[in-house]
Amino acid sequence: MRIGSIINGQERNEDDRESLAVLNPYNHEEIGMLALATQDDLNDAVESAFRTYHDSMKGMSAHQRGEILRNAADLLVEQKDEFTSILVQEAGKPLKYSKGEVDRAIQVLRFASELAKNIYGELIPMDAAPRGQNRMGMVTRKPLGVVGAITPFNFPLNLSLHKLAPAIAAGNTIVFKPAEKTPISAYKLVKLFEQAGLPNGVLNLVIGTGKEVGEPLVQHDKVNKITFTGSVPVGKNIRASAGLKKVTLELGSNSPNILFEDANVEDAVEKLTTGAFAFSGQVCISAQRIYVHQTIYEDFLKKYKESTNKLTIGDPASEETDIGPMINEDEAKRAKEWIDDAVENGATLQSGGERSGTILEPTILTDVKKNMKVIAQEVFAPIVSVMPFETEEEVVKRSNDSIYGLQAGVFTKDIDRAFRVANQLEMGGVWINEISTYRQDNHPYGGVKQSGLGKEGVKYAIDDMTEMKFIGVKLQGKE
Ligand code: SIN
Repeated sequence: MRIGSIINGQERNEDDRESLAVLNPYNHEEIGMLALATQDDLNDAVESAFRTYHDSMKGMSAHQRGEILRNAADLLVEQKDEFTSILVQEAGKPLKYSKGEVDRAIQVLRFASELAKNIYGELIPMDAAPRGQNRMGMVTRKPLGVVGAITPFNFPLNLSLHKLAPAIAAGNTIVFKPAEKTPISAYKLVKLFEQAGLPNGVLNLVIGTGKEVGEPLVQHDKVNKITFTGSVPVGKNIRASAGLKKVTLELGSNSPNILFEDANVEDAVEKLTTGAFAFSGQVCISAQRIYVHQTIYEDFLKKYKESTNKLTIGDPASEETDIGPMINEDEAKRAKEWIDDAVENGATLQSGGERSGTILEPTILTDVKKNMKVIAQEVFAPIVSVMPFETEEEVVKRSNDSIYGLQAGVFTKDIDRAFRVANQLEMGGVWINEISTYRQDNHPYGGVKQSGLGKEGVKYAIDDMTEMKFIGVKLQGKE
C-alpha cells in the first residue's frame, strides 16, 4: 500500500516522490509506503483549507456539521475491525487496547456531532453601567479559520480525532499532520470523512517530516491555531515560533498515583497493572510514580509484582497479549538505558528490566531517587517506580516536585482527605479511587507546568477552537 497526502480531495503519491516505509514494530514487516509531502504541498494544503473556509465552510450550518460527524461515527462502527487491525500493525498496540481506542474514537465523534449543534452565545447586561441604557450586547462564537493539527503515534486514531472532530464541529478547516510512524490510520480517517460527506478541502492531510511540513505549518500566516500532542521540546518550539496563533499543547508527564493506608489494595493493584503497562507505558498519563503508605507498602508491592508477572508478552495481534512492542528499537533501548542507569545508582529491580528488540519487559523499580531519569523525566515506557511515604503533607510535596502536572490518581476511603489532596495536587486533573491513566473523552484534559497549555475533551477543545465575537446594538430613538 502506497499512500500520500490528500489536499483538496486529491492524493499526491507520484512515484518520483521521496518515500518512507511504514514498519510493523513487532515483526518489522513493511505495511505501507509513504510518498512524503514537501513544503510546496504544505503551502497548497494551507491554501486549500483557507479557500474552503472562506468559500464554503463558514456558511455550513451546525446541523450539517453535526450530521457529517454522526455519519463519520456510524462509518467507524462499520469499519471498526479494519481500523483496529491498522492500529495493531502500525503502532504495535495490543489488540485489546486497539479495540478500546476505536471504541473511544466513536464516542469522540458522537460527542462532537452533538456539540456541533450546541455552540451557544450569551447576552450581556449592558445596563449594568449607566452609559449602557438602551443598548443590547451579545456574544456569539465564531470558528477560527484554518487549524493545524499535529498528532502523535501513541493514539493515532483517537488523539487525531480529539483535534479533527472539535475543529469540524466548530466550523473550521484543517491541515492535518499525523506522526510519520502511524500514518495509515490517518489516511483511512481522511477517507472515512470523505465518505461521511465532508467536502473536499475541509480536511487536508500532509504526511511528511517535522522539518519539511511541521515547522512551515506552525509558522504559516494563514493558519490561526495549532493544536499539538507530543514531546515537551517540540511543544516549546511550537510555542516559540507560532507567533500570534492560538496554541494548544498536550505534552508529557510523570504521573503520580498515591495509595493511602485505607486504600483498597486489590483494586489499586489491578488498576495500576494496566495503568503503568498498557501500550507499554507509551501514554502521557501512564502511572509512573506510585507512592504507597508505609503501612501497606510491602503488601502492595508483593501483590503488584505477582499481578505484573502474570502479564502476557508477545504479538500485539493476539487477543491474549498485554505487552507488545514499543514503537521502535531506539525507544526500547533508550528506556532500557534509563533502567540500567537507575539500578547502577542504587535502585532495586523488582520485576522485568530485560529488553528483546522492541519489547521491554514490564519493569518495577524501588529504592529510586528523585533525580533519576525514571522519576524526574517522562519514561514513556513500561517502567514504574514504587515508593513508600509516611505523611499526607510529604506525599503531596513529593508528587508536586515535578516539572510536569497532567493527571494523578489518589486512592483512599476518606472523602475529606481525597478532596484535600486533590485540591493540593498541581495537576490538570485528579482522579479519586481511579488511576492517573484513566481518561474519558468528554472531561477536560490538559496539563499545567511543562505538561502543556489549553484543554482537550471535546467541549473544551471546541471552546478553544472558536473565538468570541461581540455584537452590540444601540436601540434607536432612545438615549
Ligand atoms: C495521551 O497519551 O495523552 C492520551 C491518553 C488518552 O487519551 O488516554
